[in-house]
Amino acid sequence: MRLDQVVYSVDGWLSAERFLGAGTRTYSKYADITDISSAFHPQHGNTSFRVPSFRVPAALGRLRTNGIASELPGYYHDGERLLLPVHPDALACADLVGREELLECEPGPDFEVIPLANARTVFVVAIDGVDIRPHQLKLHYPRRISRFTRRLREPMIELELWVADELAALGTPFLAEVCGGIFGSGGDAWGFIVREAPPLAAGRYTVPLFALYGGDIRAPQDPTLLEQLVEVGSETAETFIAERIVAPMIRLWVRAAVSAGCLLEPHGQNTLVSFTADARDIEVRYRDCGVYIDPVIRRRLGLNRPLPPMNVIGSDLRAPAAGIRSLTYDSFMGHHALDYLAELARKRFGADPDVLHEAARIVYASAVEGFPEPLLPDTVYYYDDAAPPERWRLKDTGIRPHWR
Ligand SMILES: Nc1ncnc2c1ncn2[C@@H]1O[C@H](COP(=O)(O)OP(=O)(O)OP(=O)(O)O)[C@@H](O)[C@H]1O
Ligand SMILES: [Mg+2]
Repeated sequence: MRLDQVVYSVDGWLSAERFLGAGTRTYSKYADITDISSAFHPQHGNTSFRVPSFRVPAALGRLRTNGIASELPGYYHDGERLLLPVHPDALACADLVGREELLECEPGPDFEVIPLANARTVFVVAIDGVDIRPHQLKLHYPRRISRFTRRLREPMIELELWVADELAALGTPFLAEVCGGIFGSGGDAWGFIVREAPPLAAGRYTVPLFALYGGDIRAPQDPTLLEQLVEVGSETAETFIAERIVAPMIRLWVRAAVSAGCLLEPHGQNTLVSFTADARDIEVRYRDCGVYIDPVIRRRLGLNRPLPPMNVIGSDLRAPAAGIRSLTYDSFMGHHALDYLAELARKRFGADPDVLHEAARIVYASAVEGFPEPLLPDTVYYYDDAAPPERWRLKDTGIRPHWR
């Protein structure tokens, strides 16, 4: 994709989500597995497709909001009933929880959506044929995409809305998750989450981080966005990557961790980069509030807001805090994303990865200053490949981290 040929920033974003990930999913043996049907596949499917919905009475479903003001919840409740969009692949699952009751509900309007990089989150552009304020919709998907089966059950919905409140209070640059719908009751109740779209103003581009280092599957000969940005900007590739991308990512992760005990997962799909065409003004933004919570950090800060129902270290999670912190910082951010950027910069610009690593160490050391103990362990933790797709376990890889 050539930036100088992108006319509308929304088209640039959606093309980047769908097509600029070539070569970016080699970080684990599960990364490229997906059960998504070809019609709804972000690369092979249609540009847009229809997601059916149901009008769910109060006895069967409800809408949850959080403290973030938004007009988006208004699309999902008519005052009496929840409007529940269901991914067509989920609806086709014979064992979808509550399927019989669901099919007895009055059908609602179709949502016109465009698939995003992770397939189960879609970009809604119209409801019932009428253009609406575009936004992201994260859907229950009881089939497998990459490592996990992508169910979206009530505790996860509550967690994400809780985390969104925390990040909003911290002033984190992120895509706010503003409401969630829940169908059914008990441990298997499932639903959806509504998330604001990235700012898509004229003259500004927003892309997922992987689109900076990924190839274009439609035009493999095109230079990557990283190359185009370095070309047009006034900085070397090393300075550009170290100061515009790596430093803000590290600060974002550390701040959410030490100020709220929220362990963000800034890999290539969860991190968005927005920039002007002259590469002068660059912002890093986070999305995906489905993260782990570190209650020890929160207690030390005197934060006593009741904790969410899942992903809390020491409650439903038995893995040690140090391991989960490393999983998110070293493996998701470092190994899954920054290593690719460094490798591309080495190949195309002769940039020395050690220079980038050293710059990261300085930023990390300064960001954690004042934190009373080592925030991260001496070695890198990652998933043990023996467990998926329903469960996971961590292992100490013994590898020394290089982005801190
Ligand atoms: N280049 C990429 N790098 C990392 N993940 C990618 C990439 N392209 C697509 N993905 C997909 O993105 C998903 C990342 O998983 P993750 O748990 O962060 O997101 P999610 O829960 O599906 O939803 P969301 O980010 O919308 O909250 C995986 O399904 C992965 O296969
Ligand atoms: Mg994600």
